[in-house]
Amino acid sequence: MYELIEQSRAAIAERILVKPRVGLILGSGLGDLADDLDQVAVVPYADIPGFHAPKVPGHRGELAVGLMGSCPVAVMRGRFHFYEGYSMQEVAFPVRVLKAIGCDTLIVTNAAGGLRPDWQVGDIMQISDQIFLPGMIGNHPLRGENDERLGPRFPGVVGAFENDLVPIAHAVAATQGTTLREGVYCMLSGPSFESAAEIRMLRVWGADAVGMSTAPEVIVAIHSGMRVLGFSLITNLAIPDGSPANHAEVLATGEQAQPRFSALIHGILAHL
Ligand code: HPA
Repeated sequence: MYELIEQSRAAIAERILVKPRVGLILGSGLGDLADDLDQVAVVPYADIPGFHAPKVPGHRGELAVGLMGSCPVAVMRGRFHFYEGYSMQEVAFPVRVLKAIGCDTLIVTNAAGGLRPDWQVGDIMQISDQIFLPGMIGNHPLRGENDERLGPRFPGVVGAFENDLVPIAHAVAATQGTTLREGVYCMLSGPSFESAAEIRMLRVWGADAVGMSTAPEVIVAIHSGMRVLGFSLITNLAIPDGSPANHAEVLATGEQAQPRFSALIHGILAHL
């Protein structure tokens, strides 16, 4: 793995114009969030060892490195999902590469189902903690031999989402008039949406939003010593007696929220 990270780093390094400090992973329907980069170099995933061409509609499949405002960022336009058949190591591999090219901060975004009946479709939730259900039952990106050069064998994840970026995010949202919720994100493997019984179970567990990504990337970011900030866009309400979720609705809500989400990310980066 160490050698593959180095190959990917080298493939990217020879094409980029700025050294990124912040990695940004854009979730379903949110791929256009950071289209306005300066001094940008765009590297297709097909040109990066260990990356894969995206198969899910709403994911573009390229790494864009450039300036967002004055902050050098590396933007993943599209991510890899466990439900596509990738291993958790493959899903989280890009985070290793983001770290290797210079990012010490990771901002992750995703589309999620809201588990709180009082929330609205289109709300943005700052992720305060996560439940990594597939990881808890054995599908974990750090399973197997540990390379101490990448991080410790037993990383602690309490407080993974607690850092100085959180109050900045909330302050920026307040000045922009954007409602910023706060809550626990639960990752399920997907690709089926939840049954009514599963939704009831997730609520009892203390989850506020449910999705099919993010948690393994966050684990690997913490393992590599990165600072993490996460956001879920509530694209639908996962309520037991509601209408079932569908991917078209997820993408449509993403598109609609893009300007607000983009302003929030720009505002946060301006403080770094
Ligand atoms: N469930 C799981 N993943 C999702 C959902 C959902 O309701 N909405 C967007 N991603």
